[in-house]
Amino acid sequence: MHFAQPSAPRIHVTKGMGTLFWRPDLATGIREVDLQHEELLANVSALREAARTGNLELAEGVLAFLERHAAEHFATEERVMWGAGYPALDAHWSLHLAFATELARRKGEYAASRSRASLLLDLARWMDRWMEEHLLGADAEMARFIRGRTSAAQPVEPG
Ligand SMILES: [Fe+2]
Ligand SMILES: [Fe+2]
Repeated sequence: MHFAQPSAPRIHVTKGMGTLFWRPDLATGIREVDLQHEELLANVSALREAARTGNLELAEGVLAFLERHAAEHFATEERVMWGAGYPALDAHWSLHLAFATELARRKGEYAASRSRASLLLDLARWMDRWMEEHLLGADAEMARFIRGRTSAAQPVEPG
């Protein structure tokens, strides 16, 4: 299974504008997950930059893209963890759910607010921090387990 290309127009970004961007030590060794991480991080950087410069139209487009792709990415990881018999699947799943819940709350707050630019920048910063913490924490832990299981066996692929 390969990472699905976005159905909406791809958003081209310059990487490295945020606090965290793709780097080799974030690799899980699961190709599909790594490609998704790279794309998510690049777009979180784009969201931050668009929010920072007050380009709300662009930021809203990037945010919609991120919301869709984060959901697809979480589903991919959950399939990988399920397939590998990962013992901390429930805890990891709860983190993904908490992200989606907090994103929905922040989007609601943004929609109802008059100070939209600052809320959007705050949302972008929150997402940037969340991704960094999650990739370096729960995702790295998942990757260590899966690498350990597959080093002497068949690679685990989602699906
Ligand atoms: Fe992830
Ligand atoms: Fe994850």
